[in-house]
Amino acid sequence: MNEQLPLPYFYRLVTPTGHDELAEMELRAIVGEATADPTAGPDCPDRIRWARGGADVRSAAYVAEACRALAVAPDREGLLREAANLGLEQERFRITVRRIGGQDIAVGQEFVIGLANLIEGRPDLDRPVREFVVIARRGAWLLGELVSRADSSWLGHEQRPHQYSAALPPRIARALVNLVAAPGDRLLDPCCGVGTVLVEAAQVGIEAHGREINEALVEHARGNVCHWGLKAEVETADGRGVTESFDAGVLDLPYGHSVPRVEATCRELVATAAAHCRMLAVVSGDDMRSFMTGLGLEVLGLARVHKGGVVRHVHWAGCG
Ligand SMILES: C[S@@+](CC[C@H](N)C(=O)[O-])C[C@H]1O[C@@H](n2cnc3c(N)ncnc32)[C@H](O)[C@@H]1O
Repeated sequence: MNEQLPLPYFYRLVTPTGHDELAEMELRAIVGEATADPTAGPDCPDRIRWARGGADVRSAAYVAEACRALAVAPDREGLLREAANLGLEQERFRITVRRIGGQDIAVGQEFVIGLANLIEGRPDLDRPVREFVVIARRGAWLLGELVSRADSSWLGHEQRPHQYSAALPPRIARALVNLVAAPGDRLLDPCCGVGTVLVEAAQVGIEAHGREINEALVEHARGNVCHWGLKAEVETADGRGVTESFDAGVLDLPYGHSVPRVEATCRELVATAAAHCRMLAVVSGDDMRSFMTGLGLEVLGLARVHKGGVVRHVHWAGCG
């Protein structure tokens, strides 16, 4: 590994305003330990993280790309000099340039052609075998080789047939699923509303089970799951009556904007989910860490997601 590179892999985050803490938590869940970006100067937006391993980010909500790091340089000319020393060889390659921090950063077609000329082999923009990614930023350009890229399948789910004022945005729901579950797991959503979490879980190969007390919403959840050709079990039932065990739970509590919140019910819902799931993500209007710790849960993180005046508190916990 080039000694100027801090670690062997870098990750690019795409984070809407107010979602930074949840993005960092998703990164931790997918990648494990990741570090801030020592190559970035003061003018560089904080969008790159470094790690020892290259993880699969295809299902991610906020982690856009994982790359194996090849070179770092202060500017594009420096990056071309570094690339020339790498002896890159590949038939059917593609180069993708990501500008971070302003469209005014000059990349230029001559830079891309110059880089392509340094790679032994022919480009193939439609069906590349290997993709090189350039991160173009003021003061710190990076060259990497793509390991995996988010497929953004949550994006299409925003146009669901059944909407609900208390529903989670699909992107947040996808991140919650990524915090607690992996393909093949069984996941419980005890208060599933119109099934936003169930859709995101089913989309990435997780067996999803939902409960919801409001019968009309149960039909809407089934309709939304079906609309995307996915499968999930949804029943009209109280989330406090769970008896089966699950690998993971995502609990989006009634927290008072459109759904009345009853403190005691919320606590019972958390306690029941904690008793039946190995990993748990809980969304609430306020910080429930001390209550969750009191239940014996290991709280791995808290992320606040801001939208307008509303703050969702996302708790990530292991239930032992
Ligand atoms: C914040 S909403 C969940 C929204 C859901 N995540 C979605 O995206 O559609 C909370 C839901 O909990 C349901 N609920 C309230 N008390 C419940 C209980 N005891 N058992 C099951 N569902 C309950 C409400 O009807 C409401 O749909």
